[in-house]
Amino acid sequence: MHAPTTVSPSRDDGDRPRDAVPWGAIRQPEDLEELAPGVARGHVALAADPTLRPIISFHGVEKTYPNGTVALRDVNLGINERDFVFLVGASGAGKSTLVRLLIREEGASSGRIFVNGTEITRMPRRRLPKLRRQIGIVFQDYKLLPRSTVAQNVAFALQVTSPGQRHLRAKVEEALWIVGLEDKIEKFPDELSGGEQQRVAIARALVHKPRIFLADEPTGNLDPDTSWGIVQLLLQINHRGTTVVMATHNREVVDLVRRRVIAIEGGRVVRDEQEGQYLKDGEATIG
Ligand SMILES: Nc1ncnc2c1ncn2[C@@H]1O[C@H](COP(=O)(O)OP(=O)(O)O)[C@@H](O)[C@H]1O
Ligand SMILES: [Mg+2]
Repeated sequence: MHAPTTVSPSRDDGDRPRDAVPWGAIRQPEDLEELAPGVARGHVALAADPTLRPIISFHGVEKTYPNGTVALRDVNLGINERDFVFLVGASGAGKSTLVRLLIREEGASSGRIFVNGTEITRMPRRRLPKLRRQIGIVFQDYKLLPRSTVAQNVAFALQVTSPGQRHLRAKVEEALWIVGLEDKIEKFPDELSGGEQQRVAIARALVHKPRIFLADEPTGNLDPDTSWGIVQLLLQINHRGTTVVMATHNREVVDLVRRRVIAIEGGRVVRDEQEGQYLKDGEATIG
């Protein structure tokens, strides 16, 4: 992967010149309040700031699937609002399970999980739509509707989760503009490259203005340059105030970006570092 030389490994990218972004598609919306309510323009909160409350926390969480596979064991972690976290670990380590627990696609077998001050492990089903509206999620395989246009894919997400939306078209256009795809609005997924399809998926996940953005191996099907563009976009989303958790195998990206790294192995958190790398010195077992 060749990364732009202008990107420093420093975690405060607030002063990064706009033209340091290599792919030109990232925009700076005039109305930051719109995208990230309550976040002052230009303010980047450091994860280590003790005044920030965790927006996500796991307390002694275990997950055993019905077939007996133990996917998570005694997971304890806190993720602060506006943090950017890489979740790393070999295939089968438990990364996707952790993501599925956060949207309550799966329930924890024991322990407690809080999202934005609410215990989701005890949340009744009827309240799940409200939980999921606070979370945007993308996956390795994009999951776009193949027979729907880009605009319809993004609009559909909004119609399902928030029926009766006003200004639907404007919201769809805004989300596509953020990911730099406003000129592809009437295209179908198979007319787009993989990177463009992932950006449509990101627009769809952003359209409800979530406070938390989960990306499960979002660059898993993309070449290094395209992957880098997707990561830059997630960093920009984070920069505007959204908490981002990215599960990944992409060692180059993790080592270059130098953000918080939570490593999982066999369902356990084995490492949690503020400006981490994919592998710790001497470690050879993850990924
Ligand atoms: N629905 C499921 N039923 C049974 N076992 C599962 C299920 N999903 C995942 N697993 C198992 O749980 C473990 C963790 O998987 P997963 O969370 O997908 O890991 P990762 O995303 O890090 O590759 C693996 O052993 C996997 O085979
Ligand atoms: Mg996975």
